[in-house]
Amino acid sequence: MKTYRIAAIPGDGIGVEVIAAGVEVLQALAGRDGSFDFAFDHFDWGSDYYKRTGLMMPDDGREQIKGHDAIFFGAVGAPDVPDHVTLWGLRLAICQPFDQYANVRPTRVLPGITSPLRSVSGPELDWVIVRENSEGEYAGVGGRVHKGFPEEVATDVSMMTRSGVARIIRYAFRLARSRPRKLLTVVTKSNAQRHAMVMWDEIAAEVAAEFPDVTWDKMLVDAMTMRMVIKPQSIDTIVATNLHADILSDLAAALAGSLGIAPTANLNPERAFPSMFEPIHGSAFDIAGKGIANPIGTFWTATMMLDHLGEPAASARLMRAIERVTADASFHTPDLGGKATTRQVTDAVIAAIAGDN
Ligand code: NAI
Ligand code: MG
Repeated sequence: MKTYRIAAIPGDGIGVEVIAAGVEVLQALAGRDGSFDFAFDHFDWGSDYYKRTGLMMPDDGREQIKGHDAIFFGAVGAPDVPDHVTLWGLRLAICQPFDQYANVRPTRVLPGITSPLRSVSGPELDWVIVRENSEGEYAGVGGRVHKGFPEEVATDVSMMTRSGVARIIRYAFRLARSRPRKLLTVVTKSNAQRHAMVMWDEIAAEVAAEFPDVTWDKMLVDAMTMRMVIKPQSIDTIVATNLHADILSDLAAALAGSLGIAPTANLNPERAFPSMFEPIHGSAFDIAGKGIANPIGTFWTATMMLDHLGEPAASARLMRAIERVTADASFHTPDLGGKATTRQVTDAVIAAIAGDN
C-alpha cells in the first residue's frame, strides 16, 4: 500500500482548527479507499513559535519538510505580530525557495451556496485563477532609507523575468486546454505599467502561438473586476501577476459565496520540491477558538492535494462528499448564514465519504 508523507503546518488562529478537520477527513478517505494511506508529520510553526524563538520556523525548517510528498498548510497571522513578519517568515519562506510558482485557485458556486450575484445560480461561475507566485510585485525587491526622517524613501520594485513570466503563462494555457471551454484570459496593466507588463503581454502572445486550440483574450485588471461581476459566464481560466491575482481571487471567493470555501494549491509543477495546499483565507482571529470556522476551503484544497498525489478517484469522492454536505443548509457555518460548527460539517463530510459508493 502506498503511504503519502504529508507535512501538516496548521499555523495560527483558525488554521489550527481547519487543518485538524482536514486531517480527519483525509484519514477517513484513506480508510474508505483502502489502497493508500497518509502519514502526517505535524509542525507547530507560526506566531506562537515566533514568540518563543524569534523565528516563524526553525532555520532548518525547509530541510525538515523537503522530502515530504506534500505540505498541508493552514494560515498565518496574529494580532500582535506584524503581518509582513508572519507572511515572509513562514508562508513565503516555503513558497519561494520551493519554487511553487503556480498558485492555482478554482472558484465555483457549490450546490446549496448562494452567490451574491443575482445572475448566478451555479454553472455561470466556474473559474480557475492562475497566480504567478514567485516574483512580480512580491519579489521582495526594495528597501527603506532614512527611516523615520522627513526624507524617508521606501520602494517595492516589481520584478519580472522572461523565464518566470513564460512558465506561468504556459502553465495557464495548459490548464485552460485541459478544461472543456479551452478559454484563457490574460490579465494585464500594460497601459499604465509600461515596462514589465508590456513584456508580460508580449510573452503571452508568443506562448499563445503554441496553443492554437485555446481561445484567449487580454484584459486590464481594473476592467477585469467589472467583468467578473457583470459577465461571469464569459470567463473560464485566468492568469495574472502575483498582486493582481491576489486581489482578483478574494473577489472570486466572495462571488462564489464565502472566503471560507475557497481553496488553493501552490505548485512546483516540475516536482523538484513538495507543493503546498491551503485554504485561501487567513487566520481569522475574529472567529478563532469559537469552533465555527468553515472547513470546506480546507477540504476542497485536500482534493487538489489528492489530484497532485495521483489519487483522482479519492479526490472525486471527497468532492462529491463536500457537495452533498454544502447542498444541505443545516450544515452551513455562520459565514454562509447558518449555525453549523466546524465539528458538525466535518462529521457530515466524513459520513458522506462513508456513504459514497
Ligand atoms: P481572513 O481571511 O483571516 O478573514 C477575513 C474574514 O473572513 C473574517 O471576517 C473571517 O472571520 C472570515 N473568514 C475567513 N476564513 C473563514 C472561514 N474558514 N470560516 C468562516 N469565516 C472565515 O483575513 P484577515 O482578517 O484580513 O486577516 C487575518 C490574518 O490572517 C492577518 O494576520 C493576515 O495577514 C492573515 N492572512 C494569512 C493568509 C495566509 O496565511 N495564507 C491569507 C490571508 C490573511
Ligand atoms: Mg490574499
